[in-house]
Amino acid sequence: MVSSSIPIPVQQSPVNPNVVTISRSPPMAALSISVSPTQTTLHERFRRNSLGPAIRAPRLLRPIDKDEFRILLLENISQGAVDAFKHQGFQVDHFTKAWSEDELVQNIGQYHAIGIRSKTKITQRVIKAASKLVAIGCFCIGTNQVDLDSAARAGIPVFNSPFSNSRSVAELVMSELIALSRQLLDRAREMKEGLWNKTSKNCWEVRGKTLGIIGYGHIGSQLSVLAEAFGLRVLFYDILNIMPLGSARQMPTLQALLRESDYVTLHVPEDPDTINMISTEQIAQMKKGSYLINNARGRVVDIPALIQALKDRHLAGAAIDVYPAEPAGNGQPFDDKLNAWASELRSIPNVILTPHIGGSTEEAQRMIGEEVSLALTRYLNLGTSFGSVNFPEVDLRAIDIDQPNQIRLCHVHHNQPGVLRQVNEILSPYNVEKQYSDSKGDIAYLMADISDVSQQDVERLQEKISATSANILTRVLA
Ligand SMILES: NC(=O)c1ccc[n+]([C@@H]2O[C@H](COP(=O)([O-])OP(=O)(O)OC[C@H]3O[C@@H](n4cnc5c(N)ncnc54)[C@H](O)[C@@H]3O)[C@@H](O)[C@H]2O)c1
Repeated sequence: MVSSSIPIPVQQSPVNPNVVTISRSPPMAALSISVSPTQTTLHERFRRNSLGPAIRAPRLLRPIDKDEFRILLLENISQGAVDAFKHQGFQVDHFTKAWSEDELVQNIGQYHAIGIRSKTKITQRVIKAASKLVAIGCFCIGTNQVDLDSAARAGIPVFNSPFSNSRSVAELVMSELIALSRQLLDRAREMKEGLWNKTSKNCWEVRGKTLGIIGYGHIGSQLSVLAEAFGLRVLFYDILNIMPLGSARQMPTLQALLRESDYVTLHVPEDPDTINMISTEQIAQMKKGSYLINNARGRVVDIPALIQALKDRHLAGAAIDVYPAEPAGNGQPFDDKLNAWASELRSIPNVILTPHIGGSTEEAQRMIGEEVSLALTRYLNLGTSFGSVNFPEVDLRAIDIDQPNQIRLCHVHHNQPGVLRQVNEILSPYNVEKQYSDSKGDIAYLMADISDVSQQDVERLQEKISATSANILTRVLA
């Protein structure tokens, strides 16, 4: 936990009055941070390992006037993220609600970075109005609320946190395995209705049974470890060859997995190959009396086929957390208007229906806050675009503290022939310590560290590179 807030003075650049140097004083290493030896946040580790003391970040391309670097955080993003940005010296405006497109268009022009969750839409119109914006953070899993192409074309990387809630989903699946095996929710509901119905028929321990995991990625592999600790035998099926964890075994075909498993759980993305990947034919291959769990995406299981198998008693139960159509918000009905089979599914015994809560835990939200704020901070301070969903992923090792005249050039440009020749011609009088570039579609991103650059040279370099024909956005960090 960071225990004190230190004001960060903002100085006008001696070179360019339009350029603001955020001077971190006292140096970062002197920040008052109380860290328990076992509980360090991502930001604390980043500050200690990467930033080091006294990193300064003059921004030379975009006119940042004389105000501080400003970050807009909407939709009640975690206080941890707010604190982390403030400790990096950024001015943070923090709001609990989402903003409409009009509100964004009116106000976005004063911000250099924005953090949102899923309700704020960053449209092409918003991006056009965002004259100072250099980065967008989605403090959630998905990014389809952002016009990713428009953002990339404006030189703005978008960061998210796709895997922060893997553990939460894996734990939910473990609870569902046991709840289904013991018909727990039906018994609990009966008790709440005042009915005593003690039974052991068709109630099982999970120990010694076989769990079949479809998709052995972040969630599937976490689940594998937890399940083995409960004494389950774990099989998995994945389109990639993956090193099994523990004693888990990769199966050559989906059919082989379905035939051997007492529980089948899905952890695949939704794509043309996975839509309805479990339908009548696949369910018929599952063992009689087995269970199906879907916490992945709504369309990977053919629900009418599942309903039929449950009614025929071929399957003994199912747990579903995700649906082809989901209500827009809390308090809204989950009914046949939304999904034609909703009431039928709701009426079947030993079926657990949850409202897409797989990743909804305080821990996952905290991790999302840490991960996305760290990705944004790294991009703003160091130019690292790793983890961006719409941008080439480029990184360079950090500039040493004892290299005060070394600068970092971060040049977003159109991916077209001749750009590197132009840039390298401009850099040719200097010593380029290290350089790396990559492209994604029409957008390319180059990072270069250049030594022995004087204050006057910094401005000249920035102007020349910004004037190249393919330039989208050039920042110089020093
Ligand atoms: N219920 C929730 O709240 C919740 C929360 C987080 C994630 N999810 C969903 O869980 C799913 C898995 O997430 P993850 O983080 O583990 O993803 P991941 O990308 O880490 O893993 C997905 C795995 O599926 C495999 N795969 C892809 N296509 C396949 C196919 N046709 N057959 C077999 N395997 C295939 C991939 O090779 C990969 O190993 C995603 O759909 C995600 O949207 C749901």
